[in-house]
Amino acid sequence: MKSIQDFSFEGEGRGLQNRLAQMFDPESGRTVMLAVDHGYFQGVPKGLEDIRKTVEPLLPYCDALSPTIGGLRTLDPWSRVPIILRATGGNSLERREELDDEIVTVSIDEVVSANAIGFTASVYVGLPRQRQTMENLVSLINEASTYGLIAIGITAVGDKLKGLFKSEKGKQLQYIRDASRILAENGAHLIKTYYCDGFEEVVESCLAPIVIAGGTLRPTKEALEFTSDAIQAGAVGVDMGRNIFQSENPVAMIQAVRAIVHDGYTPASAHDLYQELSKRKAEKR
Ligand code: 5RP
Repeated sequence: MKSIQDFSFEGEGRGLQNRLAQMFDPESGRTVMLAVDHGYFQGVPKGLEDIRKTVEPLLPYCDALSPTIGGLRTLDPWSRVPIILRATGGNSLERREELDDEIVTVSIDEVVSANAIGFTASVYVGLPRQRQTMENLVSLINEASTYGLIAIGITAVGDKLKGLFKSEKGKQLQYIRDASRILAENGAHLIKTYYCDGFEEVVESCLAPIVIAGGTLRPTKEALEFTSDAIQAGAVGVDMGRNIFQSENPVAMIQAVRAIVHDGYTPASAHDLYQELSKRKAEKR
C-alpha cells in the first residue's frame, strides 16, 4: 500500500504541499474524493438531478469534492470540504465520436476565485485530439504553478478505446500504464485513472500518485473489491462518482469506501459495514 507521503513534493513549494495536506488524511495518507462532475458531458446523470441534495449528506465523508463550476455554484459556500474543480469540457454524449474534443472551460482565475485547491483536466491519450487535450492540461499547469494549485490529470477514454479494451487482454494495462505515465511526465501532480488487472505495474511506473475513478455503476461487492484491489496495489485513494451516488445507499457506500481506503478493511468487512449501515437507515425510517 502507498500513501501521499511516499511521494516527494519538496520542489513544489509550500502552497501546493499545504493544499495536498487539505485533501489527504494525515493518518492514512490517502484520500476519498467524491466526483460529481459528470453533467459536463452526460447532461442529467442519474443521481445528480439535484447536485446539492445528493452531495450534502455525503460531505461529512468526503476528503475532497470534484464538481464542475456550475455544480459548485449550487453548493453551500460555507462547506469546509476542499474543492477540486473540473477545468476541461466542451464535449457531450450527443456526439460520442467527438468525446475527446475538449477545451479549457474554467480559467485558473476562476479556480482561484472559487477557492478551489486544484483542478482536473482530461487527456485523451491515443485519440485524435490527444495533442489538444494535452495542451489543455499543460497550459493550466503552467498558469497554476504561480498559485501552487494541485493539477489532476485524468486519463480519459473515448468509445474507441473502450472497444480496444474489450478485444485484447493486456492492452488495457499497457494503455493505462502508459497514459498515466505520460500525464505524470507532463507535470500532473496526481493522476486519476481506472483500475485494471496488473495495477501494481501502473503504480510502480507512474511518477505521480494515483487515485482511481470508479467507472459505471457495478454491484456493491464488486465496487468494493476493485477499490480494495486498487488500494492494495498502491493507489493513494479514489475520486469516485457513480459507484457512490448511484448506489442504493450512497451514505453507507461512501463510508464503506472510506473503511477500505483509510482503515484497511477487506472488501468483505467493508460490505458488512455497508449492509449494517443500510439496515440501520432502513430501521430509522
Ligand atoms: C470522466 C470523469 C467523470 O466525470 C467522473 O469524475 C468519473 O467518476 P466515476 O467514473 O467514478 O463515476 O472523470 O473522465
